[in-house]
Amino acid sequence: VTKFFFDNTFSHLKKLVDPKSAIIITDENIFNAHKKKFKGWNVIVLRAGEEYKIQPTVDAIVEKLIELKADRSTTLIGAGGGVVTDLTGYVASVFMRGIDFGFVPTSILSMVDAAIGGKNGVDVGIYKNMVGTINQPRFLLYDNSFLQSLPDAEWINGFAEIIKHACIRDRSLFLELENHSITYYRKNKKPLSTLIKRNAQLKTKVVQRDEKEKGERRLLNFGHTLGHALENQYELSHGQAVAVGMTYACLVSEKLEGFNETARVASLLNKYGLPSFASFNRKKVFEALKMDKKRDSGGIHYIVLEKIGKAKARLVRINHLEKILNQAGT
Ligand SMILES: NC(=O)c1ccc[n+]([C@@H]2O[C@H](COP(=O)([O-])OP(=O)(O)OC[C@H]3O[C@@H](n4cnc5c(N)ncnc54)[C@H](O)[C@@H]3O)[C@@H](O)[C@H]2O)c1
Repeated sequence: VTKFFFDNTFSHLKKLVDPKSAIIITDENIFNAHKKKFKGWNVIVLRAGEEYKIQPTVDAIVEKLIELKADRSTTLIGAGGGVVTDLTGYVASVFMRGIDFGFVPTSILSMVDAAIGGKNGVDVGIYKNMVGTINQPRFLLYDNSFLQSLPDAEWINGFAEIIKHACIRDRSLFLELENHSITYYRKNKKPLSTLIKRNAQLKTKVVQRDEKEKGERRLLNFGHTLGHALENQYELSHGQAVAVGMTYACLVSEKLEGFNETARVASLLNKYGLPSFASFNRKKVFEALKMDKKRDSGGIHYIVLEKIGKAKARLVRINHLEKILNQAGT
């Protein structure tokens, strides 16, 4: 099982692994902003960006590992956002048929979501996370001082997943978020660290009960089915796409579950700098949605809300979903 070290410091890493037998993988943005932290460690610095979460980067990392004389006793440490942790977990799972790895998540999104759950992999063309492994990291070390250099847009991306967590599982978190703002969390260390821990534990719980995504883990896809399709068709960040996806999932929930809090979800999204109702080309987005890997033969497991804080999966036929969405919103 993964050990969590919340509200900690990067220097604690040397107590978890011997620097001589460890290799850190990070990206250029994080490395340049936190050079001092990496002193005394073997570091592989990747170029930043989702476009590098691909097999050629995996190959380049493996070559670098061979050059650094990595072996079965080496521990890989992914220090970064979700791109770095996904790549690191995947490489560690296949290098010499699997070596130890741990994560130091540095973006809000990787702290509360991407670094947790053991799913790691790479994109293939437009298909996100098409190839990968499920393997748990040995540890997750949290040093919130990394967040000082996190760009504004990435804070917003991370909060899209936090709002998602509140919607599917934690109504009181939703209320807390309504009373605060990103500015508040950026200014106040203690509430921020509590928020990160609460969200990391929420995802951990969901995953522990359902590692292979048969039931409960599916709830984490709230907003993502439509979100991924939108992300492929429009110039949207992941957070923006998921935010619009969640809003429309709320509208579908109204039709299927009698959900009646869409306006409240939409206004929370807006409060955190995210879009809600947005017009999009239904036909094009549905083409992309039909290609989504999460569909089942009978339809897709679409995540709906009964109320804020309580989600469930409904197997909906694509045509039915298309019909509902065509009637919903603008
Ligand atoms: N494995 C999973 O279960 C899972 C879950 C959710 C998302 N993901 C994956 O995570 C990725 C998205 O994660 P992300 O948003 O963290 O992406 P990312 O790693 O691309 O980070 C976003 C940007 O922020 C920068 N950054 C990160 N931390 C920083 C810091 N402390 N200071 C300055 N800059 C910093 C990065 O360099 C990058 O430019 C996607 O590839 C997604 O598929 C995986």
